[in-house]
Amino acid sequence: MRGRLRRLTAGAAVTVMAACTLGAAPAAPAEAPPAYEDPALPVDERVEDLLSRMTLDDKIGQMTQVDRSALRTQSDLAAYRIGSVLSGGGSAPSPNTPQAWAEMYDSFQRTALSAPLGIPMIYGVDAVHGHNNVRGATIFPHNIGLGAARDPELVERIGRATAEEVSGTGVDWTFAPCLCVARNDRWGRTYESFGETPELPGAMTTLIDGLQGASLDAPGSILATAKHYIGDGGTTGGDQGDTELSEAELRAVHLPPFREAVKRGVGSVMVSYSSWNGVKMHGHRYLITDVLKGELGFTGFVVSDWAGVDQLDGREGFTAAEVRDAVNAGIDMVMVPHDYRRFIELLRGEVRAGRVPMERIDDANRRILAKKFELGLFENPYTDRSYTAGIGSDAHRRLAREAVRKSQVLLKNSGGALPLGKSAKVFVAGKNADDIGHQSGGWTITWQGGSGDITPGTSILEGMRSVASDPSRVVYDRHGNGIDGSYDVAVAVVGETPYAEMEGDRPGSMGLDQEDLDTLARLKASGVPVVVVLVSGRPLDIAARIGDWDALLAAWLPGTEGAGVADVLYGDYAPTGRLPVTWMRSASQQPINDGDGKDALFPFGHGLTYTGTAPDEPDDPDVPDDPDGPGHPVCTADYRVVSQWSGGFQAEVTVRNTGDAPLDGWKAEWTPPGPLTVNSVWNGTLTRTGDTVSVTGAGWNAKLAPGASATFGFTATGSPAVPAITCTGV
Ligand code: GLC
Repeated sequence: MRGRLRRLTAGAAVTVMAACTLGAAPAAPAEAPPAYEDPALPVDERVEDLLSRMTLDDKIGQMTQVDRSALRTQSDLAAYRIGSVLSGGGSAPSPNTPQAWAEMYDSFQRTALSAPLGIPMIYGVDAVHGHNNVRGATIFPHNIGLGAARDPELVERIGRATAEEVSGTGVDWTFAPCLCVARNDRWGRTYESFGETPELPGAMTTLIDGLQGASLDAPGSILATAKHYIGDGGTTGGDQGDTELSEAELRAVHLPPFREAVKRGVGSVMVSYSSWNGVKMHGHRYLITDVLKGELGFTGFVVSDWAGVDQLDGREGFTAAEVRDAVNAGIDMVMVPHDYRRFIELLRGEVRAGRVPMERIDDANRRILAKKFELGLFENPYTDRSYTAGIGSDAHRRLAREAVRKSQVLLKNSGGALPLGKSAKVFVAGKNADDIGHQSGGWTITWQGGSGDITPGTSILEGMRSVASDPSRVVYDRHGNGIDGSYDVAVAVVGETPYAEMEGDRPGSMGLDQEDLDTLARLKASGVPVVVVLVSGRPLDIAARIGDWDALLAAWLPGTEGAGVADVLYGDYAPTGRLPVTWMRSASQQPINDGDGKDALFPFGHGLTYTGTAPDEPDDPDVPDDPDGPGHPVCTADYRVVSQWSGGFQAEVTVRNTGDAPLDGWKAEWTPPGPLTVNSVWNGTLTRTGDTVSVTGAGWNAKLAPGASATFGFTATGSPAVPAITCTGV
């Protein structure tokens, strides 16, 4: 909900007061306000009334989004009827404080409202792991860590906390969640993905519920964005590359999270820079209009990515043809974000020439205006200052610390190196041990992130010293100088330094850098047990090194609350995280994903705890053994061919627990009636023994409560005939 100040109230109140107190003749009865200003009317009626009053320039302005830094003069907001402003990564007011953000927002809004129809602007930011542009905001773990936590309810709470902090600065809209399915860990945006299977991002669309709240006009609610549609995580050739997949595979792997987001009422969808089989997504009418808006029934609005339209012809800048093609493909709002005057001029020309139908312009405006009405922007367009003080609150930081704990994945723990004793003499080393910037990763204060105390928080080292019984026994040297045999254990916090988007692509080595290797060598030479904490946005190529390590904890990119890592290191909380992505044995295996048959160092779903298996994996003594004994069919497997094409077919199998006890695992087996070559598998691990094909659960979907089900799929060439599938509990 917006600020208490109502849009026209301030001015109107002063006018009326002046008339009454000065004894002037009673004012003529005011005209009834236009229907679109009546909040009692249904949104669609308000939209139609407003649309009927809008000129072409009003409508084109609503489809225009500019970066705050690109406005030649703030009055252009009104002069060009601009409907949206954004802050690209790091585009912040100075000083970068919540109060300055709120003042900036309100100032832009006042200007926007001064245009004849008084249509409020909508302001968007990349609040992708908290309100990460704002110094002092709570920074949550990046999505890859939240995928490891496997806790959709936690993610919803993070969405709510983020929405409150965003609301406290006036901002109405975040370009999150990224629902990318990261299939190649070389991709610089792997950490923005909840995981490599469609189910993980699909499950974490609860973030949308947290962000958008019970209703968009409820206090603290903001608009969410499902991005980047579609296939951004499945490209060959890194960020903004080409997703070379059949339609069946694209639909099976990359579409489900968007289907889930639409079901949850996501208000906007951002188009991907990437291409599908050589066709740029920003011009893809079939996927944007026919599939997203038609088949999935998406009724919000579609926004381009930053200057995404410019890429259509492969040349710098944008042309009338690119603007036309993008808008006709179904993009409703264009993140220009700089030369907005030229964009408006070109789009106007294309409409007047009849190359962009007025119906398309009206459809885009209906979608955009509906969200502005639903957000309550017309009634309460200004910052709700009641949320400003809550930015970076202790409550939100406690939530972030909980998320950090739950995202930790224990990959190795030999000799009980972990948990650390509270009174142990610990030597801490590594470039990521005492660096808020490094542990937060990209999209933090600036687009690429940075090093050092870039925003208030607790480093992992500070967290360790706060949890240890005697902080003086926790000694730190970044390079490991000073380590000797007097220490009980060494903890090396190493990994990656921040990056974002294409800057993070790693086409070559995926190993540790030389500084880390030198630090680890010093620690190893001391003979002291070595615990490695990896702060990284993805799995790293460490198979050749891990033999020298006594324990390995994947911390991902935890954000400002580094104490959550210490909570697990010292055993106040046992690690419960499980890999959201398969951990390669070698970078040469990339892409490597669950079920593709490659020999991983650690499989998707792997995660230890301090009792040797993940806490929800041990036999539960209260659950009676299967009364029918092992091997009795306590589950069924329903097979169906989803689609067929000249090159093969796609099938899905739903396994259901028909017993009355939870299943810890299941196996579906069949002997194909004819030759069968499986080309890709998802949500299951496939093995072949002679003519028999077996598929077991993919780690996270192996456990089935009574009545619960899991679906795996595969594409194949050969006979799609329905085989007799047996299902057994394992
Ligand atoms: C970037 C990203 C997108 C982000 C947008 C605005 O290039 O691709 O995720 O939302 O620009 O910052």
